[in-house]
Parts: sequence; C-alpha cells; structure tokens
Amino acid sequence: MKLPTGGTFWCNWCNVVLVAVTLFGLIAQAEAKMDVKKQAWGKTADGKQIDLYVLTNDKGFEVKVTNFGAAVVSIMAPDRQGKMADVILGYDSAAGYQNDTAYLGTAIGRYGNRIGGAQFSLDDKVYKLAKNDGANSLHGGAKGFNKVLWTAEEVRDKDGVGVRLRYLSKDGEEGYPGNLSATITYTVTNANELKMHYQATTDKPTVANLTNHAYFNLLGDAAGDILGHELMINAEKYLPVDKGLIPTGELRSVKGTPLDFTKPTAVGARINDKDEQMVLGGGYDHCWVLNKKGLEMSLAARMYEPKTGRVMEVTTTEPAIQFYTGNFLNGTIKGKKGTVYQKRMAFCLETEHYPDSPNKPSFPTTVVKPGETYSTTTVYKFSAK
Ligand code: GLA
Repeated sequence: MKLPTGGTFWCNWCNVVLVAVTLFGLIAQAEAKMDVKKQAWGKTADGKQIDLYVLTNDKGFEVKVTNFGAAVVSIMAPDRQGKMADVILGYDSAAGYQNDTAYLGTAIGRYGNRIGGAQFSLDDKVYKLAKNDGANSLHGGAKGFNKVLWTAEEVRDKDGVGVRLRYLSKDGEEGYPGNLSATITYTVTNANELKMHYQATTDKPTVANLTNHAYFNLLGDAAGDILGHELMINAEKYLPVDKGLIPTGELRSVKGTPLDFTKPTAVGARINDKDEQMVLGGGYDHCWVLNKKGLEMSLAARMYEPKTGRVMEVTTTEPAIQFYTGNFLNGTIKGKKGTVYQKRMAFCLETEHYPDSPNKPSFPTTVVKPGETYSTTTVYKFSAK
C-alpha cells in the first residue's frame, strides 16, 4: 500500500524534530560534562577538613586540586590517540601532601625560589627568613604556602570551571612583613587549559613571588625519565647562579650553551655537559629571562613528548621561568599508585619573577605596597600532535 503524501511530509518533520532533539540532547550532555565536584579528602593535624576538587571540561580533560597547600594533585591529558594519562607527579592522599618535602604540585609563597642569605631589606629594615636551603631561604620558608590550608569556593564562569583558594598570611609570618591576603584561582577551560591566576594585597610594603611547583612528565603516569622530552624556552637570556643557586645578578646569553632552548631540543641532549652552570645546578635548575616587552601575557615555553605526542604550552604574564629537571628526586618519594620518583623523572616550569629579587635592585621589583594588587596569570595548555 502506498503511503499518502501527507505521511512522507510528516515523516520529514519527524526527522527534523528527531535531529533537533538529538542535537539538543548532545549539546546539553556536552555542557553537563564541564563541572566541578568537591569531595572530602582527609584532615589536617589539628582536625580541619581537607577537600579535593575535581575540575572537568567537556572533553574529559580533568584536573584535581586540593585546598591543602593549594596543590594541583593530577592533570589527566590526552595523547595523540586521545588516551588520557596523569601528567604530573603527586600523592594519592592528603597525608602525602602534609608530609611532602619536594613541593609536588603545590602552591609556592610568599616567595617562589630563593632569597640569598635568607634575608632582605625593605625601606631600611632588615627582614630575616628561615634558612631552609643551606644559608638561603627557599619557597617561602619553613612553612610556606604549600603547607597551609586554604579556604576554597567553586567557580563557574564564562572561562570554565574552577576553584578559588584564599589564604591570609599574617604580618610577620615566616619573617615577611604585612598581612598578605592571597588568592589563587585555578580554572579549567574547554581548550584543555589549566589557568592559574594569582592575586595578593597587603597592609604593609612586602615582597611576593607566587608560583606553582607542578612536576610534569608528559609520558603520563611518570612512566620513565623526561630526558627524551623536547623543550623550547622563549628566552635569549638566563640568570647564572652561584653554588647556592643564587643568581649572580648577571643576565647571560644562552647562545652556545646547554641552556639554549630557543629551538626545540631534547632535555637530555646536553644535561650532563661539563658546563660550569650545568654542574652547579646538577642539571637544569635555572631561571630564564623571557623574551618580552613588559608583563603582558606571552609564550614562555613549549614541551613536546615524541612517544605520546603530548604537548604542553606555558603562557604567562611573569617575566621569567625556572626550568628544573628533578635533580633532587632520589628515589625516596613514593608517589601516586606506589610509583617511586627517581632523579629526572619530571620537570618543572615555574613561572616567576627572578629569584633573589629583594636583594638585587637591578632585577624587576617584587615589592607589593598597600593599595596595590599583585596580579599574575599563567596558563598550562595541553594538546597532542
Ligand atoms: C625549585 C628549586 C630546586 C629545588 C626544588 C624543590 O625548583 O629551584 O633547586 O629546590 O624547587 O626540590
């Protein structure tokens, strides 16, 4: 029997409606995927609750963050086949972060990197800091921002989903002047980016240099060393250091040295060179001065891992970046899934102002004054090729 023409007409409409409903459903489903979820994750020594925040975008890119030490706990990023794996080192539990000595994934403050002689003067007053790295102060002192509990709120805005963490560092904490009110916002976007936005205000002149100390391994799940990764750093100059890894004050050209990453080069290609700076650093542990005009957002570095195709691109408003090749990892840390973290099993690309700036008037200032807002942004973007 022949269907009446009207039937075909209605069937066409059915299809249109069906397609529309399906599309609508897909869009709704896609939107539903971008989400932030919170779960209880343990307690501090004094009984305060530690939480874990899971930030996911529509593509399944996922970042976990804890409010203890404002640490980034994991980043699940796709390889060239779309297979997800965790590209940072860390711990399976909050206790791991409480006992950590290597700053795995943690926030760093008040002062990222070293302050020589563990002291500085500001407005003719000398401020003494903890000597927690030989004669120097490292990463904020004995109890830096990596060891405190931050308050947290979930964020959902046009950029993506995230978590905003706040911490009030009291006047005199770790020897630094001024009540410093710090905020870090971690946001995950649909472009597979993890955005880190730092803000701080103070009620007395002080210094600040906030960063994050994620240890990356683009093989995923710390499946080997990082010597085969290929790195580009957008910098013609770096800061040579003394034996305590304090910058000498010179801005030296990378040309003709193992520190020249202006063209993509394997991390392991020159890491054991007898160059004086490589010996002092025990590998790469230096700060590169980025090619840029001011403090605009610009490309700092790109890391590529040839086996998996994973690429990580770092853009920042900061003037410099510390490239560290996990030279101090020595097999004493048992991390996620029981993996033992060995030397050179990860790299750090810490965006920052120059180390020891409070003692080096020729370096860009790290002084923050009352009425000013310290504000920096760094984006880690993941892709594969
Ligand atoms: C930074 C420093 C290194 C080392 C690590 C932490 O990246 O530059 O020298 O101290 O932190 O182990």
